[in-house]
Amino acid sequence: VILTQDELKKIAAYKAVEFVESGMVLGLGTGSTAKHAVDRIGELLRQGKLKNIVGIPTSKKTHEQAVSLGIPLSDLDSCPVIDLAIDGADEVDPYMNLVKGRGGSLLREKMVEGVCKKFVVIVDESKLVSHLGGSGLAMPVEVVPFCWKFTAKRLQDLFEDCGCVAKLRTAGERQPFVTDNGNYIIDLYFKKDIGDLKVASDNILRLAGVVEHGMFLDMATTVIVAGELGVTIKHK
Ligand code: A5P
Repeated sequence: VILTQDELKKIAAYKAVEFVESGMVLGLGTGSTAKHAVDRIGELLRQGKLKNIVGIPTSKKTHEQAVSLGIPLSDLDSCPVIDLAIDGADEVDPYMNLVKGRGGSLLREKMVEGVCKKFVVIVDESKLVSHLGGSGLAMPVEVVPFCWKFTAKRLQDLFEDCGCVAKLRTAGERQPFVTDNGNYIIDLYFKKDIGDLKVASDNILRLAGVVEHGMFLDMATTVIVAGELGVTIKHK
């Protein structure tokens, strides 16, 4: 039987929910993989198999989904310590570093997943890469709308040696995509390896106008990968 990508995402998501225990404060991720995990948490609550869960959503979309499932919610202001977060990723390297944010939700994800005791990443095997940013796909950076072209140019110049092209993310007809926080996203595309990720991260964050970027370095504590040959679980 050949499984679809969505079926693999669901397998990884359900596996992650096995780590959830009653009484936990949970970071609820965003995206097509995390959606399956949130659905499953809702289902187990409804069946009474999980109790006293509090969810901290990482986007407006996940907030709406959780509300529709009846999952009790809170936020970082009231609940600054999170037991476990479950979320997808766009890229996972061999050291469990991630690229996230191709769905547009990186800032809230980073705020929530940066304070959780355990961060379980769920992916299908297509997300595995040897180097972050080497897949020719976008490395998202959330920026303030004010003079975004100036910030995009500075980001591109920062990675000139890697053949970087910076593009504003759009939503439909020439409209900028607007994040949950009212910001824009500049997607960086690299022709060459960006080298040391920590250095790249620090350099991006040092630019005024940048709010956050989609590299999640040294944050994941578990990665669950669903593939045609089964599920693999890697712990830090
Ligand atoms: C949301 O912006 C992202 O960070 C997602 O977590 C990531 O893009 C993975 O999404 P999928 O599970 O839909 O691939």
